[in-house]
Amino acid sequence: MKAIIPVAGAGTKLRPHSYSQPKALIPLAGRTVLSIIIDQLQSAGIREFIFIVGYLGDKIQDYVTDKYPDLQAHYVHQVDRQGVGHAIRLTKSLVNQDEVFVVLGDTICEYDVQEVVNSPYSMIGVRKVDDPRDFGVAEIGEDGFISHVVEKPHIPKSNMALVGVYKLKESDQMFQCLENNIRQGLRSHGEYSLTDALDCMIQMGARFQSFVVENWFDCGRKETILESNALLLKKYATPADSSAFENTVIIPPVSIGTNCVIKNSIIGPNVSIGEQTTLVPNRRNGHALIEVLHTAQNVFGFLEDDILLYIAHALKRPLSQVYGVATFYHYFRLKPPGRHTFVLCQGTACYVKGAPQLQRAVEHRCGVRFGETTKDGKVSLLTARCVGSCGLAPVAVVDEQMAPKLSEADALARLERWLTELEPGP
Ligand code: FES
Repeated sequence: MKAIIPVAGAGTKLRPHSYSQPKALIPLAGRTVLSIIIDQLQSAGIREFIFIVGYLGDKIQDYVTDKYPDLQAHYVHQVDRQGVGHAIRLTKSLVNQDEVFVVLGDTICEYDVQEVVNSPYSMIGVRKVDDPRDFGVAEIGEDGFISHVVEKPHIPKSNMALVGVYKLKESDQMFQCLENNIRQGLRSHGEYSLTDALDCMIQMGARFQSFVVENWFDCGRKETILESNALLLKKYATPADSSAFENTVIIPPVSIGTNCVIKNSIIGPNVSIGEQTTLVPNRRNGHALIEVLHTAQNVFGFLEDDILLYIAHALKRPLSQVYGVATFYHYFRLKPPGRHTFVLCQGTACYVKGAPQLQRAVEHRCGVRFGETTKDGKVSLLTARCVGSCGLAPVAVVDEQMAPKLSEADALARLERWLTELEPGP
């Protein structure tokens, strides 16, 4: 028996995590989806694997070669991603009429793999779900055999969802159905699905039994991946010893990779840390001055003298240096900000296109200079060197919104609204 693992997808639902690695390699509980699948199948005696790769496929290949040097692995490249059925069709010559075990590369399920391998029937993994409309769905007869499978039905006739695990004895018939569907352009929801080919096999007389998986971890969406990580940690957590790390408390379950440096931290619960990671909070490190000022301003709204004093003391830096950095960058505010902010760009392009005239008009209306806040606390006037929209000069940023090609009349109209608005209630 051969295993087919489709891992060609771009993992768009897992972005930004999947920008630099395929979703099958995103760390989960100190492992990866791919390693959990391979280990499961190997434990049931499957030795030959066909990986269908595409997006960042070289990373899959490097990972398997490195972690499973003895695995009998083949790689098939799916250049044009047109669905799982289309991907599996590419493996025909490698399968060579053998029985196959197919596991989708973003699926982790707990079930008795050996029992499925030993079954005399083709098998499809299922699990009851509340709303099956986003899944392939199996209709199961009273005799326990599947009578129909359908991909993402609008009106499901069953709530048994296909979990993405299949054992297929009649692989030749599967390829026949896949080729037929592709030749005729029979797509479901824009893709050539494996579900459609399986249904074609069933209608041709193939006998499929279902098996219910105990746990099904959704690893393909970022909304659920943290939850899956926490659940998997119950099984794969590493015993962690707080005393192994300086001034650190570990709250299990956690998974901590090898060669990690962790100091002054509280880790867990439900945390996975990759190997060779360094975690050292830098709030006591002088190099972190800008980051600390940034955080303090986010928390307190502005950097008053007491805060600068405290930061200088905590980071063991001269107050003059802390004050110098806080006043050098326009971003930092040493006084309470007004309810509204008007940031006028004074870069060259904006200067040439009339920023000085705007500045005079705005200062005249507000009665304060740029760098100050009106006495009623309603408007802060700030300047910037260039806000990156020189082609639209003159530019201001008003309450975080770009105001391109700003005319004097428009600027004064905005200020008028702000300056005459009523105080908010308590
Ligand atoms: S100079 Fe004003 S946006 Fe560049």
